[in-house]
Amino acid sequence: MYDYIKNQDTDIFSALEGEEKREAEGIELIPSENYVSRAVREANGSVFTNKYSEGYPGKRYYGGQDYTDEVERIAIERAKELFNCKFANVQPLSGAPANVAMYFALMEPGDTVLGMDLSHGGHLTHGHPTTWINKIFNFVRYKMKDTETGEIDYEALREVALREKPKIILAGFSAYSRELDYAKFVEIAKEVGAYTVADMAHVAGLIAGGVLRNPFEDGFDVITTTTHKTLRGPRGGMILTRENEEIAKKIDKAVFPGLQGGPHMNVIAAKAVAFGEALTPAFKEYATQVLKNAKAMEAVFKKENIRMLGGGTDNHLILADVFGSLGVTGQEAETVLDAVGITLNKNMIADESRTAMDPSGIRFGTPAMTTRGMKEEEATRIAEIMIAAMREKDNEERLSVLKEEVKKLCLTFPVPESFV
Ligand SMILES: Cc1ncc(COP(=O)(O)O)c(C=O)c1O
Repeated sequence: MYDYIKNQDTDIFSALEGEEKREAEGIELIPSENYVSRAVREANGSVFTNKYSEGYPGKRYYGGQDYTDEVERIAIERAKELFNCKFANVQPLSGAPANVAMYFALMEPGDTVLGMDLSHGGHLTHGHPTTWINKIFNFVRYKMKDTETGEIDYEALREVALREKPKIILAGFSAYSRELDYAKFVEIAKEVGAYTVADMAHVAGLIAGGVLRNPFEDGFDVITTTTHKTLRGPRGGMILTRENEEIAKKIDKAVFPGLQGGPHMNVIAAKAVAFGEALTPAFKEYATQVLKNAKAMEAVFKKENIRMLGGGTDNHLILADVFGSLGVTGQEAETVLDAVGITLNKNMIADESRTAMDPSGIRFGTPAMTTRGMKEEEATRIAEIMIAAMREKDNEERLSVLKEEVKKLCLTFPVPESFV
C-alpha cells in the first residue's frame, strides 16, 4: 500500500502513515466512524475515479459507460435488497447532499419540515439556523417527552403537525439512543398529508443487519442515509424510496441535475462492494454484536451512576452527561480520553446549559470497536477505562497506565482487512 505516494509525495505519505498508526493504536468510539474492508478501499481508489458519467445507467451524457453502468446497477440492486424497497439512488456525494436533494424533491421553497429538535438529537441538515437550507424551508420541531426515558413526545408531535401542516415529517438523528415508533410517525403523517422520511445515516447498518426496525416496514416513503458509519462503506450518501415511482423520479431529478454533476463512480463501486458485504450472514453477526457491546458499556455507566440521555441505549451510541455526573466538561473528557488513546466527541445534551464548544456531554459508540472483533468483555473494560480516566484526569501517572492498557488492547485486536 502507498508504494507510489511514498516515492512521489513524502508530505502526504507521512500523513497517511500517521493516520494508519493512529487508527491502529487507538480505540475509535466516534459513533459515526468505522473501518472499511480492504476491498472497499480498493474500489474507492480504483480506475473509476477517472470517469465522467453524468446521468443514470443507460441514460448518460458521455460515452464509454459499459462498466460504470454495470457498477451503478449492481449498487442499486444490492441497496434495494438490503433495505427491502423498490428504488435506490446511490449517487448522493454524502449524507448532507442526500438530505438537500430529498428536500428539493419533495417540497417547494417555503414549505415546512417537522423534524427532531437539534438539541434533542437531530442533525445539522435538519434545519440548523446556520445552514442555507434553513433559509429556504421552514423547520418546526418535536422533542423527547422525557430525557430520562428518551421517549418522543408523540402527542406534541401530532399537535405541531396539525397546526403547521408540514410537507415532510422527518424521523432521524445523530445523537439519540432510543428506537423510534415509526408507525406513529406514519399515522400522524397520514392525518396531515405529509411525506414520511427517515434519515437513517447513523443506524443504516443496524437496519440492514436486521437488528433495528426498518422504517419501510411501517410504511415510510423515503429513507436518506450515509453509506459510511454503521453500514461500513465508503464516505457517501444514498436515497431509498419504498415503492412510489413518482417520488423516486423526483428524487433522481433532484440529485442530478438538480444538485450534483458527475457521480463519483469510484465511490459507487465501493458502495456496491460494501452492500455486498452487508448482505452476508457475517454482517448480521456484526450488527448484533454492535448492540451487545453498546449494552455492555451502558451497564458500566449505569453501575457508576453516570447519567445517560434517554436512560441508556437501544442502538450503537450513548450520550452521557459527564458534567452533571462527574463535574468534567465534554471538552475536558474529550481531551483526557484522547490522551489515553480513546477517541470520541464532546456533545450537547438536551436542554444544555453550557456552550457547543464546551458542552456537558460526550457521545460515543461501538461500530468501529466491534469491527475490530471486540466483544462485551472488551466493551466493559473500555467503559471502565473511560470513567477512570475522566475521574483521574489530573493524575498523569494513572493516565499513562491506562494509555498502555488501551494500546495493548488495540494490538490484540488489529483492524481486519476483510469481513467475508
Ligand atoms: C443523521 C445524519 N444525517 C446526515 C448526516 C450528514 O452526513 P455527511 O457528513 O456524510 O454529509 C449525518 C452525519 O453525521 C447524520 O448523522
